[in-house]
Amino acid sequence: MPWNPDQYHKFQAQRSAPFDDLLKLVEVRPHLKVVDLGCGTGELTRRLADILPESDVLGLDLSPQMLAKADSVKRAGLTFELGDQANLSGQWDLIFSNAALQWSENHPRLIGHLYDRLAAGGQIVVQVPSNHTHISHRLISETAREEPFISILDYYLRQTPVLSIEEYSRLLFELGGEEIIAFEKVYPHVLENADAVLEWVSGTALVPYFERLGTGKDLFVENIRAKFRAAMPGNPVFYPFKRTLFSAHKPRP
Ligand SMILES: C[S@@+](CC[C@H](N)C(=O)[O-])C[C@H]1O[C@@H](n2cnc3c(N)ncnc32)[C@H](O)[C@@H]1O
Repeated sequence: MPWNPDQYHKFQAQRSAPFDDLLKLVEVRPHLKVVDLGCGTGELTRRLADILPESDVLGLDLSPQMLAKADSVKRAGLTFELGDQANLSGQWDLIFSNAALQWSENHPRLIGHLYDRLAAGGQIVVQVPSNHTHISHRLISETAREEPFISILDYYLRQTPVLSIEEYSRLLFELGGEEIIAFEKVYPHVLENADAVLEWVSGTALVPYFERLGTGKDLFVENIRAKFRAAMPGNPVFYPFKRTLFSAHKPRP
């Protein structure tokens, strides 16, 4: 997908609050082998690496554009690599992922695969957005189902693979995980107006549509802008953003 680091960074302050919560779930120990899945531009991977003494941290991402920016935060013990999180190989003491696993399908299979990649005593710590019932997402799906977009998109509709917190906790339990934590939290963002909500989703939820729309992109955006303005007329707009955080440890034999 054509990720745009500049667009994504427009709401960096708001996006770092869930990362701070996620970091608090990490059991800090020295000498860990760590992977940050969907590390993006790497600043947050650097913050993760900085709290883990004498650890080797790898940031993995599928986007060369995002990784190009990560070069500037590299240091000894912190490297970056192009790769698909769904095909993670190797053994890891900590598998960490902030706002990226939602881009891979079939979470029961994905979480099972990642759990298998944990070393004994290892930890998986994940944050995914669970905001898919918000009006902004419903309006995007509605527009994608209308002509001419439904034809241009060839009936493509982005469906979130994100599960409920009950499902994640059960999955982790059935995999044998211990010290399971799973919770959902609202991050109460206050954005200037409906156009700012559109800016926000342009860096995330709209990315897979932009990839498929070609020259239809501008018309698609203008249709959504009109719907957003009608549905969220406030100034400012309160944007309660739900996110799911979960963690589990793999027991030692
Ligand atoms: C919303 S950004 C999050 C970036 C970073 N973790 C953060 O918190 O700022 C999602 C990232 O996931 C990456 N991504 C999407 N699908 C991926 C996949 N299958 N494997 C690895 N990275 C992926 C994107 O390239 C993008 O950099």
